[in-house]
Amino acid sequence: MPNDRKVLVTSALPYANGPIHIGHLVEYIQTDIYVRYQRLRGRACYYLCADDTHGTPIMLKAQAEGVSPEQLIGRVATEHLRDFTDFGISFDRFGSTHSDENRVLSEHFYGRLKAGGHIAVRAIEQAFDPVKQLFLPDRFIRGECPRCHAADQYGDSCEACGATYAPTDLINPVSALSGATPVTRSSEHYFFKLGDFADRLKTFTTSDALPKEAGHKLAEWLTEGLSDWDISRDAPYFGFEIPGAPGKYFYVWLDAPVGYIATFWQLRSRLEERALSLDDVRAQWSQYEIHHFIGKDILNFHGLFWPAMLEAADFARPAAIHVHGFLTVNGKKMSKSRGTFITARRYLDALPAEYLRYYFAAKLNSGIEDIDLNLEDFRARINADLVGKLINIASRSAQLLAKHLDNTLGDVLPDAPLYAEFLKASETVEACYEACEYSRAVKTIMDLADRANRYVDEARPWEIARAPERRANLQAVCTETLNLFCVLIAYLKPILPETTAKVEAWIGGPELNFESIKTPRLSHAIKPYTHLMRRIEPADLAPLIDNAQEASATPSSSSAATPGKPAPPTAGKAGAATLSAEDFARVDLRVARVVAADYVEGADKLLKLSLDLNEGRTRTVFAGIRHAYAPADLVGRLVVCVANLKPRKMRFGVSEGMVLAASDSDGLVVLEPGEGARPGMTIR
Ligand code: 2FM
Ligand code: ZN
Repeated sequence: MPNDRKVLVTSALPYANGPIHIGHLVEYIQTDIYVRYQRLRGRACYYLCADDTHGTPIMLKAQAEGVSPEQLIGRVATEHLRDFTDFGISFDRFGSTHSDENRVLSEHFYGRLKAGGHIAVRAIEQAFDPVKQLFLPDRFIRGECPRCHAADQYGDSCEACGATYAPTDLINPVSALSGATPVTRSSEHYFFKLGDFADRLKTFTTSDALPKEAGHKLAEWLTEGLSDWDISRDAPYFGFEIPGAPGKYFYVWLDAPVGYIATFWQLRSRLEERALSLDDVRAQWSQYEIHHFIGKDILNFHGLFWPAMLEAADFARPAAIHVHGFLTVNGKKMSKSRGTFITARRYLDALPAEYLRYYFAAKLNSGIEDIDLNLEDFRARINADLVGKLINIASRSAQLLAKHLDNTLGDVLPDAPLYAEFLKASETVEACYEACEYSRAVKTIMDLADRANRYVDEARPWEIARAPERRANLQAVCTETLNLFCVLIAYLKPILPETTAKVEAWIGGPELNFESIKTPRLSHAIKPYTHLMRRIEPADLAPLIDNAQEASATPSSSSAATPGKPAPPTAGKAGAATLSAEDFARVDLRVARVVAADYVEGADKLLKLSLDLNEGRTRTVFAGIRHAYAPADLVGRLVVCVANLKPRKMRFGVSEGMVLAASDSDGLVVLEPGEGARPGMTIR
């Protein structure tokens, strides 16, 4: 392949309503390895990503936190970028779909679709939450499955029997936001007539741009016939308003992939230090080989909708779409209740990022099968491969070099054919990286590591070291060993960038890459060895799963085993959703004493309570009980408080909990713990 390729690589844009988790990381690590490999081969390669910031779930999450959507996405962007950086994900730019460039581009794409006659407008009927006054996305409607009658299923599919259906098929549907029964309401929607592109999509999906399995899946959809794609949503919605259509917004999936180009625009403007025009961007975009890395759950968006949009707006289509499967943990879907929902941060607090990079690489290939993180296998594999085989090669020679040879390599390789054999393997290793067959690359490299260890075992340098007159011999063996080690590290560089940097600092000389290893390091002084990697102990794994269910956000992205869509918040009223025992166990109920109570000016339903939970301070809780109690009735009484409720910013101040009360149409009573209860006691 020519070496003057210009490569532009993207990973799917993570939703800005939750933390990065290890399910996401399969994709970012997969992409980053590809990117680092391209750069190592000297290619101009950009890695672009951004937060996917629009849509109902993000709007509602911001509301629940009492902040604006802009504040929410600002905070999440900082958190996401920190996680990515700490995992060594080397973006050239991490943007946001809520940017000026993205607005301009999204409007442009829409304008082209409209001008080409590819937009249809018609009224559709949808579920509407009469309490929250908004149209409900399918995921926010719950009810009984029409097929197997399992309770509390999502509006689009049943987790119990796998049936898919329309929300209107659900038995006794309720809004997951308010618990109210949704009503059907009609409104005008804007549709992209995908069918207009059927022929061109057929050509695209059968091209080399897509893995065969993915192409087959898309061919099925094409054969079934392409329905119009609904690209608008009604206010209230957080996103871009559609030009000429007040109160209508672009559906998040319309402007999300456009975010790839918007981020490219931002990057190029920064690099060129000038404001590029949209036409500049279109021209530059077409000069790159574009690679999208995605999870299999968002194949239709990238394999059908996006190429059709690009076609309509006269932008170059991707050269390749790389599709991966989901991540399971210990053989099962990642799950909060099982404690296997592992956020990036939780992982990083326990273990080095590179262990996971290596493990995923060792499991990834170009296919779309799911991959499993089995924690015990993970521990065994890192200890055996990285610590036991790889680092062992270096540490054995390092001690001898320091003790007997003044940390200096000799002037000759005693086994040049062996070194040549190691160099020869670069053909295989490179081909594997290029084809995203990382597991084969890792296998090739680890076979070489075995070979290097065998060399050391056979040469027995520790015995040679006992004979001072054989110093030259010892130096030769250590020189061979360290040079073999350098080749292995160069091959692993895309997977283990941090370890490579440490090795480069230790050994000195030119940076390690596929070219530089062709010249072995001879007559060369190295620095004192510092520890490179440690074993994983069983105790290191415990924090990964313990309390993992604390992670507050929803598993919401492409690589989570829980597929794509953000889970809605739990229903606000009894009967709207069932809880698992684990869910209930997460509620921290505590005895509290009301130390003060007051009316709240401007709020005719609320009382402001100061509660003592024996925590060394009092908490403020706003309770909607004014119609049933005067402040004086409550002071001094014991109540039951939900102590781990997320603090809620209200117009009158922050509420730090909730007081339990029983009510019916006749009235309301605040629940009182029985005799012997004291503030701070836990209620079980
Ligand atoms: O599935 C998801 O997590 C989406 N946020 C991915 C968007 S990728 C792109 F098209 F923007
Ligand atoms: Zn079912």
